[in-house]
Amino acid sequence: MVAKAISEQDIAGMREAGRLAASVLEMIGEHVVPGVTTETLDQICHDFIVNEIDCIPAPLNYGGGPGQAPFPKSICTSVNHVICHGIPTDKKSLKNGDSINIDVTVIKNGYHGDTSKMFLLGKPSVLVERLARVTQECLYLGIEAVKPGATLGDIGHAIQKHAEAQNFSVVREFCGHGIGKVFHDDPQIVHYGKAGKGDVIELGQTFTIEPMINAGKRDLRILPDGWTAVTKDHKPSAQWEHTLLVTADGVEVLTKRTEESF
Ligand code: MF3
Ligand code: CO
Ligand code: CO
Repeated sequence: MVAKAISEQDIAGMREAGRLAASVLEMIGEHVVPGVTTETLDQICHDFIVNEIDCIPAPLNYGGGPGQAPFPKSICTSVNHVICHGIPTDKKSLKNGDSINIDVTVIKNGYHGDTSKMFLLGKPSVLVERLARVTQECLYLGIEAVKPGATLGDIGHAIQKHAEAQNFSVVREFCGHGIGKVFHDDPQIVHYGKAGKGDVIELGQTFTIEPMINAGKRDLRILPDGWTAVTKDHKPSAQWEHTLLVTADGVEVLTKRTEESF
């Protein structure tokens, strides 16, 4: 196995980008309350990213091309049955019982940090609470599978096994990704698979794991805005994401929050 060349400078840059991305999620928590619009959450995050931590919000104007407009906002806000890539809007106020994934990607000195978490408002249903918890466990089980010499299939297998044991389903159309100076790089990190299969994980790699788990069937539909992915059966979906560095003895969670211990 050949270790991927990553310089100390690159590692330091990714550590800083990851830490700053995590700080946005830590900052926004107190604002995620009933009555707030996702547009307001976007504005607060945008101002913080640009003015407080001196970063670029990577989603803003990202992508686009044939048949798709660029993403128009600075964060993704995915509420209830939205799987991912929800667009912040002033038409949507959060209410008691809602769940929302906030996905933040910042660029600092050219390096990307990408992370998301679920916020639950007031008292959500037992199902939504269990879905959010199990999806976080899926992320953590995926992270535990990361070390040099393990395979990408080991990650996907750990996630799929846990989700399906709970009668939940794993979204196939979106996956984790290599990340660094490029936002979405190779390899694709799929959240299903077989242990021992797929590419071997190498020291110095940086990639995300970001399982999207549905309470019902895995099928999705993209709304006419070209971005918002929703469950076809309108049952709830959850997602959690971290940016990782593969180290000699396993993994460093670059987007770790204070509330987490790895
Ligand atoms: N942050 C998402 C990810 O985890 C990507 C968002 S792309 C956007 O890869 F354009 F929708 F913002
Ligand atoms: Co990502
Ligand atoms: Co993300």
